[in-house]
Amino acid sequence: MSRILILGATGNLGQLAADALASDPQVTLRVASSRRSGYDRLKARFPHAEVVIADWYDRESLVKAMQGVNRVFVATPDFYTDEHLVTPNIISAAQSVGDIEQIVRLIAIPDGLTADRLSPEFLATRCGANLHVIAKPLLVASGLPVTFLNVPAWIMFNLPWFLAPEVKKHRQLAMPAVTDASRMWVSEGDISEVAARLLRGSAEDHIGREYVLTAAQRYNYQQIAGILTEELGEQVTFVDEEGPLREMMGDKFDTLMTYFRHETQAYGEVTHHETVVDLLGRPQVTVQDYIRHHRHLFI
Ligand SMILES: NC(=O)c1ccc[n+]([C@@H]2O[C@H](COP(=O)([O-])OP(=O)(O)OC[C@H]3O[C@@H](n4cnc5c(N)ncnc54)[C@H](OP(=O)(O)O)[C@@H]3O)[C@@H](O)[C@H]2O)c1
Repeated sequence: MSRILILGATGNLGQLAADALASDPQVTLRVASSRRSGYDRLKARFPHAEVVIADWYDRESLVKAMQGVNRVFVATPDFYTDEHLVTPNIISAAQSVGDIEQIVRLIAIPDGLTADRLSPEFLATRCGANLHVIAKPLLVASGLPVTFLNVPAWIMFNLPWFLAPEVKKHRQLAMPAVTDASRMWVSEGDISEVAARLLRGSAEDHIGREYVLTAAQRYNYQQIAGILTEELGEQVTFVDEEGPLREMMGDKFDTLMTYFRHETQAYGEVTHHETVVDLLGRPQVTVQDYIRHHRHLFI
C-alpha cells in the first residue's frame, strides 16, 4: 500500500498528481498546502484524502506531514523558492521520519547542466533549472531514496497562461521575439500521470533513477501560431510584442526575461525520450491534441 504525501498539492502539477491518485484503492493520500486557504481548497477537492498544512520553510511542519507516509512528491514553484533552505528541510524531515521509501522530485535540467555552469544572474532568477541544479545534488548526496522526474521542456499549461488572452482578443500570439526558441512541449497531464505511476508503483524499481519527459517535435512561436490557426479555424498571427507578457508577469517580468536569456539557449540539445510510452503504454499528448482539447480557452 502506498501512503503518499503531495507537498504543494494546490499547485498545477501537485493537484493533477493528487487527482490521478485520489481514486486509487491501493493509495492512501495526504495532500498539503502551506496556507489556510489552500487547506480549505484541498478539503473541498479531496474529500477522501487527509489534508495537512506543511510549510517547507518550517522543518517541524514537514516532519508532522511526513509521519505515517512512505512516498512524497515535491514540485517547487518558480521565482519564490529558496532551494538552499527548502530542500535541506525536506531532506532533514524525511531522514528524521525514517520510513520514507521514495521521494519523487520534479526537475527541469538539460543533460549535464550543473550550478557551476550557471551565472549568479541566472541562478538568482530561481526559475526552472536554476532551482533544480541546487536541489538535485543535495537530494543525491542525502542518500534518501529519490526518483527524479525531469522535464527539460515547456509545460503546455504555458499555452493558455501566456498566450490565450491575446489569442482570444486579437487572434495574435503576442510574445517578445527574443524569447522565441524551437521548444519541446510536454502536457501537464502527462507529467502528473507519470508522477502518479512512479508513486504508486514498486518503489525499488524507481529509486536512483531519472525519468526524462520531452517531446518528439519542437515548435517555435510561428509554428504554434500555425497550429492555433488550424485548430481554431481562424488566422492567428505571431507578433513581436512584450506588452501582454509584461502586464501578466507584473514585477516578475524582468526576472522572467533574464531567465529566458538562459532558457532559450540551454535546452536546444535536449533529446527525446519515450518515457510516456514506456511508463504509461500510450502515446504522449501533442501540442495539437492539447490545443484541440482546450480550444474553448483560446476562442
Ligand atoms: N512552466 C514550465 O514550462 C515548466 C517546465 C518544466 C518545469 N517546470 C517546473 O515546474 C515547477 C512548478 O510546478 P507547478 O507549476 O506545479 O508549481 P506551482 O503551481 O507554481 O506551485 C506549487 C505549489 O508549491 C506550494 N508552496 C509554495 N510555497 C510553499 C511553502 N512555503 N511550503 C509548502 N508548499 C509551498 C504552493 O502551494 P500552497 O501555496 O498552497 O502552499 C503551490 O501550489 C517549477 O519547479 C518549474 O521550474 C516548469
